[in-house]
Amino acid sequence: MSHPIVEERPAAHGDALNLVRAAIAEAAGPGAAVQRVVDLLHDRFPPYDWVGIYWVDGSDLVLGPWTGPEATDHNRIPIGTGVCGAAAASGQTEIVADVEADPRYLACFASTKSEIVVPIFDGGAVIGEIDIDGSDPDAFDGTDALFLEEIAALLSPLRPPPSVD
Ligand code: SME
Repeated sequence: MSHPIVEERPAAHGDALNLVRAAIAEAAGPGAAVQRVVDLLHDRFPPYDWVGIYWVDGSDLVLGPWTGPEATDHNRIPIGTGVCGAAAASGQTEIVADVEADPRYLACFASTKSEIVVPIFDGGAVIGEIDIDGSDPDAFDGTDALFLEEIAALLSPLRPPPSVD
């Protein structure tokens, strides 16, 4: 991963990781757990304006639980398309400081200025990703990437069975 070296974890990230672990342990099932994680991320981090999980389904990404001001039309994104599809294809976290400057960007919301996409792995394979849109330019940095990569590892066992949409 090509993130800047992070020397200190922001306290808010450590607190949120503990809350996420507890929420997953207490949730009624995997779908409820993923929704709770999405809600926690959205509610505790004001720059995280729209938070969604996409799961890999064949050669596409399919939208799972999300929280934000409005629904996206991008419920299914081919792997390789958009910033989301790029992260799924490469297995690399994508931080886009200015979405208008990135030709890959698939517009969802007029308010979005920046975006971070973090793959979720099972072994070496990308099985999904966390997609977060920010209304501020340059809303995400390497500390967000490291934090969300830890969240992604917690989400990995919660993937729905492939037959479930
Ligand atoms: N902007 C994403 C598409 C998903 S929406 O942001 C929810 C992309 O470029 O792939």
